[in-house]
Amino acid sequence: MYQYSCMNAISEVGLQKFTDQYTKTEVKEDADALLVRSAALHDMEFSDKLAAIARAGAGVNNIPLERCAEQGIVVFNTPGANANGVKEAVIAGLLLASRDLADGINWVKAESGNEDIAKLAEKEKKNFAGSEIKGKKLGIIGLGAIGILVANTAVHLGMEVYGYDPYISVDSAWNLSREITHITDVNDIYRECDYITIHVPLLESTKKMINEEAIAEMKDGVILLNYARDLLVDEEAVVKAVQSGKIRRYMSDFPNTTTAGVKNCIVTPHLGASTSESEDNCAVMAVKEVMDYLENGNINHS
Ligand code: MLT
Repeated sequence: MYQYSCMNAISEVGLQKFTDQYTKTEVKEDADALLVRSAALHDMEFSDKLAAIARAGAGVNNIPLERCAEQGIVVFNTPGANANGVKEAVIAGLLLASRDLADGINWVKAESGNEDIAKLAEKEKKNFAGSEIKGKKLGIIGLGAIGILVANTAVHLGMEVYGYDPYISVDSAWNLSREITHITDVNDIYRECDYITIHVPLLESTKKMINEEAIAEMKDGVILLNYARDLLVDEEAVVKAVQSGKIRRYMSDFPNTTTAGVKNCIVTPHLGASTSESEDNCAVMAVKEVMDYLENGNINHS
């Protein structure tokens, strides 16, 4: 009989995949496996019994990997399982950055008691005119599961897509997506693109890769999207650039005191993968990985 423990927001659909050999425990000290979403585990002590941690998501920066390796705890993640959910959030971000739909919705809310709202709206709408993404250039930094899905969708929305990945060769990138218009280097993306979205993992080498120098290379009025990790971006530099108009809008999925409330920083509370489908897919994959490891000793991502 195995015992598992869950930290936060793990879908019941996933947990139901455990067989009758598994019981859930609230006492983390007793667990053979721990399932976690984005809660940080850096300060948590792990018992000698803990054999596996499964992260229901792609990023593992909330897990102390070195300590796990020292203690022989195998760490799983669920690459690709929530990629479609995040892709849809990024596409929504592209559109929200371009059209003043959010301001328009807020205006309607504020005027909700006004009987003349329809007439007023016809006058007011000139204040909410936006622009279209069709024909614009989108730069994608990071061509993993999410970056490739964003690329393929953006092409079908009429965008010209520039792709770059620090970790894969140009040939492999072409094999991943024939739809991308240009596989290029990051400086070309900074120079050419109207929109830039970042999809690399958070590593020492990628921390604050979008910084003052990178921003200086970008086109004036660029729209920057970050649905990957907050620390990939020097947000103080971004806020300065938003305030000067160098960056037209910063779309981020990571709220903090630097960007919250800043005009033209449009921030959501880490909702990229928050769809029932993505949550179920991640939990199902995490549970299968844990069972396969505990029962068969296999270390597989499926
Ligand atoms: C991920 O790394 O896949 C996301 O952060 C998932 C989540 O929202 O938990």
